[in-house]
Amino acid sequence: MKTYTLAFIPGDGVGPEVAAETAKALQACAERFGFAVAVTNFAWDCDYYLKHGKMMPDDGLDTLRAFDAIFLGSVGDPAKVPDHISLTSLLTIRKGFDQYVNLRPIILHEGVSSPVTTCTPATVNMVVVRENTEGEYSRLGGIFAPDAPHGFASQMAIFSRVGCERVIRYAFELARERKAAGHKGKVTNCTKSNALNYSMVYWDAIFKEVAARYPDIESNYYLVDALSMIMITDPGQFDVIVASNLFGDIITDLGAVLQGGIGVAAGANLDPERRGPSMFEPIHGSALALAGKGKVNPIASIESGRLMLDFLGEKEAAAALLAAVKKVLAEGKARTADMGGNSSTSQVGDAIRAALPG
Ligand code: IPM
Ligand code: MG
Repeated sequence: MKTYTLAFIPGDGVGPEVAAETAKALQACAERFGFAVAVTNFAWDCDYYLKHGKMMPDDGLDTLRAFDAIFLGSVGDPAKVPDHISLTSLLTIRKGFDQYVNLRPIILHEGVSSPVTTCTPATVNMVVVRENTEGEYSRLGGIFAPDAPHGFASQMAIFSRVGCERVIRYAFELARERKAAGHKGKVTNCTKSNALNYSMVYWDAIFKEVAARYPDIESNYYLVDALSMIMITDPGQFDVIVASNLFGDIITDLGAVLQGGIGVAAGANLDPERRGPSMFEPIHGSALALAGKGKVNPIASIESGRLMLDFLGEKEAAAALLAAVKKVLAEGKARTADMGGNSSTSQVGDAIRAALPG
């Protein structure tokens, strides 16, 4: 029997609670679909930082490399560690394993309501492919003479040919797969080349080159500001959106609202070439005010676990887990407070596992 080794980094705030429900859901899938999962937890959180002065050990990446996949709950507790320091572990893992695709499906399931009136299950079914290793997140720059009147900060964005090409190509491949499954088969380029006259002009040129290699796939572009507006006014026109690191970050929080809230928004950090482990995590953060109360919605994390199963090749198990999530959402009985219910985190997790096929 195949055993998948999974590294879990529960993290801070609500992270441990959503990680526990995800592990249970994966375990339940394993039992039903003839594989096994072996979960190892790593307490690389802000308390670890307070003890060791770093978010993870120096050989942390080497440790993680041995696993088939990584799950990350959420990291961040600014009262203990400033966010720009605590979040280095997340960014180091994304970059360290060259997980260049941040895949964020935006689907409004039956039984879920969005505060945005244009959003229905018929209009909201898209995927954002976010560049995940460079762009505005290249962490290059500096703060110069900070206290002087002439002090300034500079933050450099890197758009390499390889970096742009591979993520845009992934978006077109995904659109082709989705077209075969009955979706539109369209890629929208999220850009800002009217103002970012080097980086985004280069990005657009590479987008055009790649698009030309996929004549069967429709493509268009919007500037990110307009795109944000159109995601709300006419979400139904989108299929796959490809975006740079920062723009992808921003439009997926917007996307979370379209799909019914940050409590259901899942994500995957993928190395499509599988040179190392990929990492799966909810889009939401550590939600410290909710932590330890059993109130957080586990669906974003369980859905991220579902993306993990799919990526690992356990397609049947992934489809069954999605069906279970959809069933629980459509029934509307087990719901956490963010969805207007009063169920606990573990009650929602239990309901999803109970909805899996016997
Ligand atoms: C996300 C988060 C992270 C990001 C933060 C926590 C660094 O917002 O995964 O969307 O910006 O990538
Ligand atoms: Mg974000």
